[in-house]
Amino acid sequence: MCGIVGYIGYRDAYPIVLKGLKRLEYRGYDSAGIALIDDTKLNVYKKQGKVAALEEFCYGKDVKGHIGIGHTRWATHGEPNDRNAHPHLSNSGKLAIIHNGIIENYAKLKQDLVSKGYVFHSDTDTEVLINFIEDIYTNNAGSTLEEALRIALKRVVGAYCILIVHEDEPEVIYAARKGSPLVIGIGKGEHFLASDATPIIEYTREVVYVNDYEIAIVKPDELILKNLGNERQTPYITKLDMQLGAIEKEGYAHFMLKEIFEQPATIFDCLRGRLDMKDVSITLSGIAAYEQQILAANRIIILACGTSWHAGLVAEYIIEETCRIPVEVEYASEFRYRNPIVKNGDIIIAISQSGETADTIVAIDQAKKNGAIILGVVNAVGSSIARISDAGVYTHSGPEIGVASTKAFTGQLAVLVLAALKLGVDNKTITQERFSYLCYELAAVPDKIKKILEDAPAIKKIAEKYANCQDVLFLGRGYNFPIALEGALKLKEISYIHAEGYPAAEMKHGPIALVDEKLLSVFIATKDPYYEKVISNMQEIKARKGMVLAIVSEGDKYSSNIADDVIIVPETDELIAPLLNVVPLQLLAYYIGVEKGYDVDKPRNLAKSVTVE
Ligand code: F6R
Repeated sequence: MCGIVGYIGYRDAYPIVLKGLKRLEYRGYDSAGIALIDDTKLNVYKKQGKVAALEEFCYGKDVKGHIGIGHTRWATHGEPNDRNAHPHLSNSGKLAIIHNGIIENYAKLKQDLVSKGYVFHSDTDTEVLINFIEDIYTNNAGSTLEEALRIALKRVVGAYCILIVHEDEPEVIYAARKGSPLVIGIGKGEHFLASDATPIIEYTREVVYVNDYEIAIVKPDELILKNLGNERQTPYITKLDMQLGAIEKEGYAHFMLKEIFEQPATIFDCLRGRLDMKDVSITLSGIAAYEQQILAANRIIILACGTSWHAGLVAEYIIEETCRIPVEVEYASEFRYRNPIVKNGDIIIAISQSGETADTIVAIDQAKKNGAIILGVVNAVGSSIARISDAGVYTHSGPEIGVASTKAFTGQLAVLVLAALKLGVDNKTITQERFSYLCYELAAVPDKIKKILEDAPAIKKIAEKYANCQDVLFLGRGYNFPIALEGALKLKEISYIHAEGYPAAEMKHGPIALVDEKLLSVFIATKDPYYEKVISNMQEIKARKGMVLAIVSEGDKYSSNIADDVIIVPETDELIAPLLNVVPLQLLAYYIGVEKGYDVDKPRNLAKSVTVE
């Protein structure tokens, strides 16, 4: 989703802002733009398409200046074109704004401004906002831009992270946020601003995460934070714990491939210090203070979107099995609008890679207001969801740049398995013996994933064989049903092939009508209590001439004879199996996407961090 970058200091702003925009490309966007102040002249350049197109457009133009703001736009109001790209200028031509988010009451504001004679050159809510600010600024004698900004933001409904520069104030960037992230990097005589830390880490590790309803007045040597009531806030400086290599491809063809291959290491990191195999115990200090409340809860609600929602579904199965506490898994976007019943002390688990997903944020905000305890399972350290949560466990998967979530998903699963086992053993709803066995199996996951990854060339061949399929069904039962959903989502996102995930037994209640010799069914048929039943479902497909690809356990005798192709994964307990079984499905989607020539790291229409509703 939209990316924001800003620089103010002693260096040339253009290369820093441009590089920052490239670092943010992974978020997904359809146009890009930049505003620079060269002494007293404000220059704005913007272009539909990739940052490379903007760079080409800027070639030979005046890109001088030590203050600059840049934006990658993911279209909401108005189609993606040069006109709607950010930055937007105010009618005087003196103010430039970039904006991530949506101004919901923009239509009314625009109507008022039009009646005052303002002219609009784009279809965006952002251009309305900058003219609204300008209107307050020019019509209140003696008012400063800072005051005008404060007044405007009090009247704006919606979400925003904005950066504003003023041609007459070439020594300051004004920034503000509500609901969309903003990080400010602190340098010596310079500041860096961005939607996340990736454009910042090569310059400084000291950052301030701006809070909702705060305005930042950023000068080369000074960072002033104020709330909307004009009270000074103390900037809380945190140290970034992120390596530059983590946001570079490091020799891999794509971030997605790199991130799939990182999973043995990211899961190991996630388990480190939490799963102790010497005395076979689990420590989750992040949620320890809430353990008794969780175990006493009548139910747990899990809120998430997309892939994180699939992790929630796996968690439902695991927590109910190990803790015997009912779990409901809800799409955050549905939960927030359906007047849900949330009571004081209810336990809510919010799962999010980015920690910035707007639907999840609003849903947990509402639940928190009703007295629920929010536990976050988040990857991005310092993100909004991590900060809203009362407690939580980070997944420690490192920055995920590929738009399709891979290593963050297995990180979420690892955290949720850890939590379920810890709660289950303390609650005595699983035996010590089963607990120990599952801990052992969990500890073995990184090595078992390594083994699956060794088979990548074979999976690539299978992917090439099926790359021209039009429709694919993913089928699994029990713990593998959410993995079927996730396999289908990965394939849709990366290869634009129509894919559906179903519980294997549901197939005969409708989807079987789709089966013919052109339909591929991918079965997750690893060893578990439903294995025989899944084999029967597989035979039903073969009897109708459908193509079958099966993910099977080592030593599998039956499905290999039925399926057209098999991918073998190491055996493990059914509760741990999702962590392994999703990996070949990630690779399958990746190789099909590559075979079809698509940009697998930045699939069309998708955004990495979905910061609007
Ligand atoms: C799919 C994917 C999305 C996200 C969803 C939630 O590959 O990445 O479905 O899972 O947008 O995002 P987070 O986890 O950041 O809240």
